Amino acid sequence: RIVYVNGAFLPIETASIPVMDRGFLFGDGIYEVTALIEGHLADNEAHLRRLDRSLREIEIPNPHSQEKWTAIQQELVMRNGLTEGLIYIEVTRGVSERDFLSPADLKPTVVMFTQAKSVRANAALSKGADVITVPDLRWARRDIKSTSLLAQVLAKRAAAEAGASEAWMVEDGAVTEGASSTAFIVTQSGEIVSRPLSHAVLPGVTRRAILRLVDERNLTFVERTFTVEEALRAREAFFTSASTIVMPVVSIDGQPVGDGKPGPLALQLRELYIETVL
Ligand code: PDD
Repeated sequence: RIVYVNGAFLPIETASIPVMDRGFLFGDGIYEVTALIEGHLADNEAHLRRLDRSLREIEIPNPHSQEKWTAIQQELVMRNGLTEGLIYIEVTRGVSERDFLSPADLKPTVVMFTQAKSVRANAALSKGADVITVPDLRWARRDIKSTSLLAQVLAKRAAAEAGASEAWMVEDGAVTEGASSTAFIVTQSGEIVSRPLSHAVLPGVTRRAILRLVDERNLTFVERTFTVEEALRAREAFFTSASTIVMPVVSIDGQPVGDGKPGPLALQLRELYIETVL
């Protein structure tokens, strides 16, 4: 596997970053994940825009233009002979002696790699996803795609322990989002509900694409908070992310959602989204 580190394409075995990298020491960095579906970068411009915004919010200069980012991504995909999978980008504040403060002229570290993965044909689709709920232990700026992911790691570990594939995080009685996805429900009256954007959640790129698809089809999308109890009474539930596209949720904390089978609207939105990418 060939990875990208600060301008160089290297075999993963020989690539390295310094011990004093602030990404390693402080989680002082930003990341993005774009899916490659049958050779197409899915919604990549929106991912690169969010990368730029996240960097700006924590005052790391964006080292590349959109065009340059895309060119590096494409070269990495080409060098790895990848047609389907994920492209990961990480930008950290850079390398300096460990101190909370860093020199003003620090050069950001850029790391990129690909992961081969069946994105379109996901084995989990036929059965759907089981999710558990956990308290949302994260910080107050979840709109920034920070590499500080300890709360998400703990949430995913709890999910795995319970035999579930995702954790929905709960704050003040309402679901914020999944540990690595945006949470949706479809109410009994057919409304598609997801939380409004704020500092409490990551502005999902897939969420936005789904919102657009829903708008075009005269379906009703309502941006509001919802509780776990409401999700359990819903007709369907699902989550979205670059890596899972749209994944139907069939149970929450061991209790079935709807008829306990993947919801038809979730599966339809998934297919519609894939069509827009190809
Ligand atoms: N996760 N919410 C959180 C907390 C996320 O980490 C993600 C993405 C999403 C969905 O965003 P998008 O649709 O733009 O991928 C929502 C990525 C895939 C990850 O951490 O691997």
